[in-house]
Amino acid sequence: MHFDPNVLAKARHVLVFTGAGVSAESGIATFRDKLVGLWERFDPTQLASADGFRADPALVWGWYEMRRAGILQARPNPAHLAIAALAKRVPRLTLVTQNVDDLHERAGSPDVLHLHGRLDAFRCFSCDRPVGSLPALAEGAGAGRRIEPPRCVYCAGPLRPGVVWFGESLPAHTLERAFAAAEDCDLVLSVGTSGLVQPAASIPRLALAAGASVVHVNPQPALTGHPREFALAGKAGEVLPALLQAAPIGSAPMPRPAPARR
Ligand code: APR
Repeated sequence: MHFDPNVLAKARHVLVFTGAGVSAESGIATFRDKLVGLWERFDPTQLASADGFRADPALVWGWYEMRRAGILQARPNPAHLAIAALAKRVPRLTLVTQNVDDLHERAGSPDVLHLHGRLDAFRCFSCDRPVGSLPALAEGAGAGRRIEPPRCVYCAGPLRPGVVWFGESLPAHTLERAFAAAEDCDLVLSVGTSGLVQPAASIPRLALAAGASVVHVNPQPALTGHPREFALAGKAGEVLPALLQAAPIGSAPMPRPAPARR
């Protein structure tokens, strides 16, 4: 059954749930893309873990610094901008992301719920103290190489990225807010996620169970067959602007992207 854009126009509360695919058109690799260079022979779940970091801090820090360099070079794409514009055109929008980049913020979305943390929210691996200012990117970080992590000024422990690693718990308050939005919303736009990693991936199912409709925006959408579940197959950067055009909702101007935090 085809998704009726009027459902978006009539929605009182829209939950936008994004994964790596929403940043793909900004040039940022998704998790299902093959790793490259030094990391080619690793599985992300090995690198994105406290054990992986303990085993080889320079390899893991170098991987995140390469990704941070990519994020700093990247710009929000039309999908990020459409989501920021949508927030101004519906009565209520909750944005929940699995991504650790700041592209939603740079597109103008306020109050982004980062279920898996943010890469640039560095903290000490030993004493857990947050880092005040962002460490400068090491020379050649973008090319991808092993880089010794900077040291904590308080306890000299190694710094780590502020992402939720495999085996770690998600930020409880953020998850609570995301689940509450899933229970309350009328519509979920699930954008660019493979829906493989729990508990984040249960958001669309929770919303369906609470009576909402779910639209998957993905070149390869995966549907469960629920009567209120739809797919808009395609790239988020093309599908979302077209959806905003098609749905008879207000017409706030598309926001201008903000520069990266350096
Ligand atoms: N537009 C929309 N979707 C896209 C695009 C695009 N241009 N390009 C790719 N996709 C889709 C892919 O089809 C895939 O379904 O984006 C999805 C990306 O899936 P993953 O790489 O698995 O990313 P994600 O779902 O965010 O992974 C969830 O897994 O590795 C962990 O913590 C990590 O947050 C991550 C979580």
